[in-house]
Amino acid sequence: MRILGIESSCDETAATVVQDGRQVLSNVIATSLEEHKLYGGVVPEIASRRHAESISGVVRQALADANCDMSGIDAIAVTYAPGLIGALLVGVNFAKGLSMATNTPLVPVHHLRSHVAANYITGDLQPPFLCLVVSGGHSHIVAVEDYTTYKVLGKTRDDAAGEALDKAGRTLGLPYPGGISIDKIAPTGDENAFAFPHPRLDTPYDFSFSGLKTAVINIVHRMEQKGETLPVADLAASFQKGVTDCLVEKLEKAATDYGYTSIALAGGVSANSRLRRETDRLCRQKGWQLHLPALKYCGDNGAMVGAQGYYEYVSGVRAQPDLNAYATMPIDRPTF
Ligand code: KG4
Ligand code: ZN
Repeated sequence: MRILGIESSCDETAATVVQDGRQVLSNVIATSLEEHKLYGGVVPEIASRRHAESISGVVRQALADANCDMSGIDAIAVTYAPGLIGALLVGVNFAKGLSMATNTPLVPVHHLRSHVAANYITGDLQPPFLCLVVSGGHSHIVAVEDYTTYKVLGKTRDDAAGEALDKAGRTLGLPYPGGISIDKIAPTGDENAFAFPHPRLDTPYDFSFSGLKTAVINIVHRMEQKGETLPVADLAASFQKGVTDCLVEKLEKAATDYGYTSIALAGGVSANSRLRRETDRLCRQKGWQLHLPALKYCGDNGAMVGAQGYYEYVSGVRAQPDLNAYATMPIDRPTF
């Protein structure tokens, strides 16, 4: 079965053709990232406009790369939530139109579910497993019970891990997105130069990153006031250590308490080299099996939408003609 996957939740317009949920036949991405860099973050209006301009070409290219046309597509899968509302609407409306014009079933896909599914196209992972989903907007520890059933065990109380890294990067004067810049510069710094707080929360698997963010801002302000040169690499490395240690610590606790031995990472921050290395170290030490998405499927892409779309389709999920987009939506709420 061939699924055309369409993604437009943030600043990537992406389309792909995926066979049987696991085999990627094409993967086309147009991004407006360079324009957002000028402003230090994603500007929703610019993102929406670029999606509207590029979506037809991206979908056409994805079909051409897979050597097929719409007659070879069994269903269209589209990201409908969560994300930037104007950006999501471009993908949803395009997919609805294409679905009606070609009489092809339409399947709505939750963005975080698709990040989890990036692992299906990279390896042979099958549920049940425990997944740390870490992106620019979300940080969740999710029990993936089957392909469309999830239980959120823990989440961030404030900033997402990616958001905290992006803000710290900005404070340190590094290019957007800060998560990538920090990952790049961290190996040249001393990660033990600064100790960032590990917040104590009364819920065992939740995260909080706003304290770390405030700590880096305070350190930078203090040093600037004293006219000292910022040790940018040391700060970046130490901040990255603070964030990733919190993530790995809670992941270890959840896996131990719930008895999971199959572990996965997902979302843009799963590309982080220290997070990958430390999770790998943990899983080797415990004898757990670790699944990591290929780097090209960590950030937003269409292939993961095609992969999750397949499993949603098989479980009977279909969009109605009045399908809408939603800025927020829990991952564990059944899809229609
Ligand atoms: O999943 P994603 O592409 O978009 C959302 O759904 O939010 O995640 C984007 C986030 C950004 O915060 C970006 O800084 C972060 O992923 N990110 C990284 C790395 N690559 C992307 N953070 C740390 N290390 C990286 N290598
Ligand atoms: Zn994402």
